[in-house]
Amino acid sequence: FTPQTLAGKRVIVTAGGTRERLDPVRFLTNDSSGKMGYAVAAAAQQAGAKVTLITAPTGLSAPSGVDIVNIQSTTELATAVLDRFPNADVLVMAAAVADFQPVTVADQKIKKTADNDEMVLTLKKTPDILKQVAAIKQPHQVTVGFAAETQAVLANGQKKLADKQLDLLAANDVSRQDIGFNSDDNQVTFIMPDGVTDQTPKTSKRVIAQALVSRVATILAAK
Ligand code: C5P
Repeated sequence: FTPQTLAGKRVIVTAGGTRERLDPVRFLTNDSSGKMGYAVAAAAQQAGAKVTLITAPTGLSAPSGVDIVNIQSTTELATAVLDRFPNADVLVMAAAVADFQPVTVADQKIKKTADNDEMVLTLKKTPDILKQVAAIKQPHQVTVGFAAETQAVLANGQKKLADKQLDLLAANDVSRQDIGFNSDDNQVTFIMPDGVTDQTPKTSKRVIAQALVSRVATILAAK
């Protein structure tokens, strides 16, 4: 693609693994490195879009020319996305969002005592951001999801695409060590609403991000 591919389009990308606090010094998170989302943000910027990258903490440096919004929890991510989505053309949800969050967050560090040899954490479901986005999505807007699966990658991906009214879903098999979380490489299966699927070769996240951005441009042009 060229710097004209997404010229003038406003693109939101989310990246990284959300952090759900237990107390002031502890949190629950996942293995997401943020690399896939950062690569998508960089590719969209190179394609001429105005990019906002909403990111959980990662060890990565921000792609140049991209606006950064820092978040930690799923709740903060939900607010950041829902505030901005009405003014966006494209949303790519590459963040690995926690499925559950602690029901209560302790004000002080949780201590071990003589009588708590076991402790039970009570968790509740996090807000489903893409589901909330689906409820306010306008016909001209494009939404893209990622699905990290360890089994039945295609069947689960197709269900997710339909449930969340996505225009495109990139499904990857995170049970493989050579791709996915923290790796520089990935291999995804793009799933389209008409049921067509297309598996990329195993390649860099940069190249996969470019392929994703090209597909987004085609979808936008057809809307
Ligand atoms: O976690 P799951 O595999 O269902 O995530 C699929 C897609 O939904 C991803 O794009 C992820 O960013 C998004 N998601 C979300 N809100 C959640 C959980 C996931 O928008 N609470």
